[in-house]
Amino acid sequence: MTHDTSNKKILLSGIKSTGRPHIGNYFGAMKQYVDLQGNEYDSRICIVDFHSLTSIHDGEILSQYTLDLAIDFLAIGLDPKLVTIFKQSDVPELMELTWIFNCITTMPYLMRAHAFKDAEAKNKEINVGVFDYPMLMAADILIHNAEIVPVGKDQKQHVEFARDTAEKFNRIFCKTEGLSDEEAEKLNLFKLPEAYIVSDVETVPGIDGQKMSKSYNNHIPLFSEDADITRLVMSIVTDSGASLDANDPMAGIPANVFNIHKLFIGNSDLIAAGKTYLESEETLREFYKSTGGKYKPLKDALAADLIAFITPLRVRRAEIAKDTDAVRTMLAQNGAIIREKVHHLVADVRRKVGFVV
Ligand code: TRP
Repeated sequence: MTHDTSNKKILLSGIKSTGRPHIGNYFGAMKQYVDLQGNEYDSRICIVDFHSLTSIHDGEILSQYTLDLAIDFLAIGLDPKLVTIFKQSDVPELMELTWIFNCITTMPYLMRAHAFKDAEAKNKEINVGVFDYPMLMAADILIHNAEIVPVGKDQKQHVEFARDTAEKFNRIFCKTEGLSDEEAEKLNLFKLPEAYIVSDVETVPGIDGQKMSKSYNNHIPLFSEDADITRLVMSIVTDSGASLDANDPMAGIPANVFNIHKLFIGNSDLIAAGKTYLESEETLREFYKSTGGKYKPLKDALAADLIAFITPLRVRRAEIAKDTDAVRTMLAQNGAIIREKVHHLVADVRRKVGFVV
């Protein structure tokens, strides 16, 4: 990393390395990292392999997924000169911070987490890592004193947990009660992070209209081959969602095809290639209506657009994957850089809680 990151607001986000990404992961989270990269923030993107371990219990697979995800990030256009891509397990201080947070957090509080409640509702046998997931995520965010945390809507609660935890730590260990905000700010170790949520991509639908998810097997992999893209698009369930109310702007439009196609609205590369129906939601709707209710030409257009979008990413990925050692070196170097950057705060935390005698 050569860029100057001093005095910039810190942006931190994380993604689990639990499998190959699909276009839902891309539009829901990964793309935001690319859109937000620039000189405004000190951006740090963490491959959260400690978190991945809550569900992946095969060392070879986990390490492969982690390396793959680093390659994916580079392939989609994250610029290592603008963004620090690192892996969570290179920052063992996170374990220490998680433990400290555990000791100021109650069980009933963690039981309120949606992710935990969902797992419980599914009657899964829940490991302690799943239960404690929010505290590790709080540590992830707070160890950087990150202020901006780009996440999907489903992660908002976790960022709030991080905020609460920061407040709690500050209150308990930084003794700011009765002080003015300004005085307190000087004493408080942790800044309160803010979730950054891109509202126009709330949920990316899968080929069956439900939320795109590997667990529903309704996903389109981000680096798919052309033939697979075509096959998946042709299998989109088309008979649901179309409204019969003529006043509804979506009347007669196969919603499942349209809602995936919508992701490409405003894509300047595709528009420049003549796909002017992607200029706005309205032009896309008109295009859909122009086929008079026939699905085939719409699916053909969607498949062609997906292929046009994915092919360059896939080609780029193949190129980067030729030199995995370079990717490993990048991760190792960035891990060391991040460790160095968080060192000071961790030392302060150790002092505050009484680990220094
Ligand atoms: N919990 C997040 C998810 O499942 C991943 C994550 C872990 C994360 N640590 C983070 C996201 C820190 C933002 C910041 O998507």
